[in-house]
Amino acid sequence: MKIKECLSLGVACLKEVTQIPQKETMLLLGELLGKEMSWIVSHGDDDISLNEWFYSALKRRANHEPLEYILGRASFYDREFDVDSRVLIPRPETEILVDKALELAKCLSKEAHIVEIGCGSGIVSIMLALMLPHIKITAVDLSSDALHVSQKNALKHGVYERIGFVQGSYLDGVNEPIDMIVSNPPYIAKDEPLGKGLAFEPSLALFGGFKGDEMLRHIIDLFMGQKVKMLVCEMGYDQKLPLQEYCIQHGLNPTFYKDLAGLDRGFFIQEKQ
Ligand SMILES: C[S@@+](CC[C@H](N)C(=O)[O-])C[C@H]1O[C@@H](n2cnc3c(N)ncnc32)[C@H](O)[C@@H]1O
Repeated sequence: MKIKECLSLGVACLKEVTQIPQKETMLLLGELLGKEMSWIVSHGDDDISLNEWFYSALKRRANHEPLEYILGRASFYDREFDVDSRVLIPRPETEILVDKALELAKCLSKEAHIVEIGCGSGIVSIMLALMLPHIKITAVDLSSDALHVSQKNALKHGVYERIGFVQGSYLDGVNEPIDMIVSNPPYIAKDEPLGKGLAFEPSLALFGGFKGDEMLRHIIDLFMGQKVKMLVCEMGYDQKLPLQEYCIQHGLNPTFYKDLAGLDRGFFIQEKQ
């Protein structure tokens, strides 16, 4: 079959699932052929043979499985990370969480200790390790499967030795004093209906409790209880008011930030000096 015919086939299969069926088909063809998209665009008349993997990948995508799980990779901060159904797919808004943590870390000593609660694929801890070469980083996750993926990614990006990986809940197993907690915890409410793509992601990474913000509240409690200097968290777009109230009730003064779509997306708190 000619490449341009394969593209038409892919577009026909994926047009109800994605707004960019042609690009997604090119990415799948690129994976099959080991070629860049630009090569595919300029070789429309080449004959290729499609294999089982390609047909199965198209079928999975037509069934709403995220492309990242099918390709086994996702990009974050211009780097490529391995992902599979054991971990949340990195979201662009989480880059802002990393930016905020980096900004706050300027006030920490070089040997400070940052702990990430819920590291998933490892994107946050790995980017912090790459950009803060002296800081000690501990990455915690309740899921041993997720930790496996984050360790693989840390090896891939050359920072495995820089990060202490801990399987546990919240800060269980973290015994050294902490200067900053960073977290993108699960924050969806228990009964919230999920979009078709989200249903493929691990529920442990999605649901944050009955209302959704329970894990965030618990992290704020830990921040206060353990006298940590700084806290940076991602949250749901509709969680600013309840979390602001919770913080104020506890004498804290959070600063909220928005994502690129203008939605409330997270907050940070610095301990009073
Ligand atoms: C929303 S995902 C975030 C993953 C990654 N940090 C990111 O930003 O893409 C939340 C992660 O928290 C983990 N998790 C859920 N409950 C936890 C708990 N009680 N303690 C530690 N990690 C937990 C999940 O396994 C999941 O990997």
